[in-house]
Amino acid sequence: MKRVLSGIRATGRLHLGNYLGAVKGMLELQDPPAGGQEYETFYMVADVHTITTPYNIEELRKNRREVIIDYLAAGLDPKKSIIFQQSEVPEHLELAFYFSSVITIARMQHLPTFKEKVTQHPDNATMALLNYPVLMASDILIYKAGLVPVGIDQEPHLEVARVIANNMNSKFGTDFPEPIRFATKGEYVPSLTGEGKMSKTVEGSYINLTDDLETIKSKVAKLPTDSGKGVMPEGKPERGSAIGTVLSFVELFLGKSKAEQYKKMYTGEGIRYGDLKQELSNSIYEELKPLQEKRKELENNPEYVDKVIKEGAEKARMAAQETLKEVREKMGLS
Ligand code: TYM
Repeated sequence: MKRVLSGIRATGRLHLGNYLGAVKGMLELQDPPAGGQEYETFYMVADVHTITTPYNIEELRKNRREVIIDYLAAGLDPKKSIIFQQSEVPEHLELAFYFSSVITIARMQHLPTFKEKVTQHPDNATMALLNYPVLMASDILIYKAGLVPVGIDQEPHLEVARVIANNMNSKFGTDFPEPIRFATKGEYVPSLTGEGKMSKTVEGSYINLTDDLETIKSKVAKLPTDSGKGVMPEGKPERGSAIGTVLSFVELFLGKSKAEQYKKMYTGEGIRYGDLKQELSNSIYEELKPLQEKRKELENNPEYVDKVIKEGAEKARMAAQETLKEVREKMGLS
């Protein structure tokens, strides 16, 4: 059966960007429609990736569990998916080291994500940071996963995974697939500040999956607006203009036809942003409410969460060890 892998770093609670760009895709592949293609799905919390930028030890310990709880609350199901913590499968790290022998330093230094992080943390341009995409390639390829549900920002990392797969196959005769991204309609969720994408590291940019209606309303209220009337900007309007950002949220939560309706109003009689924001906040909350209820149940059942984490690691390790054994043999290490 074809395999899927995805992961989210343990940097905090999940936000709408993670949910729409990644988790929704994970759910789609876990629960295909009747008669549709079925996949073996591996979903992890990327706790080892979290140490590639400065972090707090206690927060990491807490957050890696919180991500698992968010996964379960969103509908990832341990009966259908292998749900695990990356650090519990140390095979990923060993394979990453082997992979680092088939990709150059120059290739890694040119990645936009590496450059961005070095600008953010100039005193922490570490080897771990440089190796970030190599470890990610290992996460994916150790399960020979061909499909990766992630947001559009992860595309450069997937390109590295494809180069590594190719180089390994031609040098050592392995049969790694060239993994491709599984895109959702929320592959790029804009920031609530109106600039760039929604991100955990930008205060005021995100809505957490655990936010209540009042919090959502006050965050949505801050979305930048304009006069509510004018000519629609050309190109990718969500990357910059106020109306574009607002309409991307409308499309994601109220649907395409509602977004078309508002677009017409914008070029016609004008939009009343107060009403729009009210409708949008309610609809975001409606989507999150069931997740929040499920989360409460899970918080009251720590034994269940422990069991999911333990069993997930066991299953993932078995699959990972198979690939590692093959790679060691092909590389002359056994
Ligand atoms: P991370 O933790 O930055 O983000 C987790 C996932 O959320 C998506 N995402 C978004 N999607 C749409 N709009 C946004 N504003 C937005 N913000 C975040 C990301 O695209 C991602 O899918 N490198 C990964 C973690 C990782 C991984 C892997 C992923 C480690 N190993 C193997 C897939 C396969 C990361 O930093 O995600």
